[in-house]
Amino acid sequence: MDDLRQKYLDAIANAADEAVLEDLRVQAVGKKGEVSLKMRELGKMTPEERQVAGPALNALKDEINSALAAKKAGLADAALDARLRDEWLDVTLPGRTRRPGTIHPISQVTDEVTAIFADMGFAVAEGGQVENDWYNFDALNIPGHHPARAEMDTFYMHRAEGDNRPPHVLRTHTSPVQIRSMELQGAPLRVICPGRVYRADYDQTHTPMFHQVEGLAIDTDISMANLKWVLEEFVRSFFEVDDVELRFRASHFPFTEPSAEVDIRCSWEGGTLKVGEGDDWLEILGSGMVHPKVLQAGGIDPEVYQGFAFGIGIDRIAMLKYGIPDLRAFFDSDLRWLRHYGFASLDQPNLQAGLSR
Ligand code: PHE
Repeated sequence: MDDLRQKYLDAIANAADEAVLEDLRVQAVGKKGEVSLKMRELGKMTPEERQVAGPALNALKDEINSALAAKKAGLADAALDARLRDEWLDVTLPGRTRRPGTIHPISQVTDEVTAIFADMGFAVAEGGQVENDWYNFDALNIPGHHPARAEMDTFYMHRAEGDNRPPHVLRTHTSPVQIRSMELQGAPLRVICPGRVYRADYDQTHTPMFHQVEGLAIDTDISMANLKWVLEEFVRSFFEVDDVELRFRASHFPFTEPSAEVDIRCSWEGGTLKVGEGDDWLEILGSGMVHPKVLQAGGIDPEVYQGFAFGIGIDRIAMLKYGIPDLRAFFDSDLRWLRHYGFASLDQPNLQAGLSR
């Protein structure tokens, strides 16, 4: 029995891996293993012999089993140590230089616009991109039958069958934020509301999702002259030139009276878009004096207050300022385009240091 013990304890101590250990376990204490076979012989022994051999064999079996378990644990530890050594990583090594990401022109232009209007005392307000049609239409003096609803190519949200509540829409303009701001803050009021808007339209200068920035100023002594000054001031600051030619065209919006659309002189020659020269005009905004019904819908007394409002196409002015001829590319997420037209992430636009430097 001592020979047996020595043989297996040595073999276990020298086992190189778990497979060898398992073989040894089968050979020694498996069903037909050497120790097990010896235990079967107990039956043939005299009771006296059995009294000595029985406990000794059991002790041997226990000893081999615990040697197997200890060795197994030791092998696992060694394997873990080896892995830790192999997979060791020096976190103090300098990082690999990567190309930094860029700020999308839409974000850049939104920040530039915000900086300019902040300087003129406008706060930023926001609304949801999904609006109910009262905010998007009715409150803005666009009743159900009004042709403007059809003209805007509105995306309606799905409604469950039998649901007769007023529908929700993807807002077709940022003007619903006018109403929400009036409700929230009352008069006097001076806000801009940049954000995404949606219309079913797609060509070189239209995408189904695009961006506007709404402007709204309400007080007791506001006139069209204030509107004109603010817009001219804005355009001059934004394009960072003194002579940008604007064209105010009499127009119509249900929510303003009187209304004006504003175009900017530009040229598309050779596929590049240039602002301030050429014989083309690009419409960049709609504007006017807030309609009394709209003030009323927002809970403001039109006998006391007036206001002006405007909606600027952020994408349009981004295309003009940075000479980007196709709007659709803005939203293709093409890395080459983003690297070419994107902005350094640490350059925050501000009026003192320059908007786009
Ligand atoms: N909401 C109008 C549009 O999307 C723009 C606009 C805003 C016009 C405010 C007048 C006043 O076309």
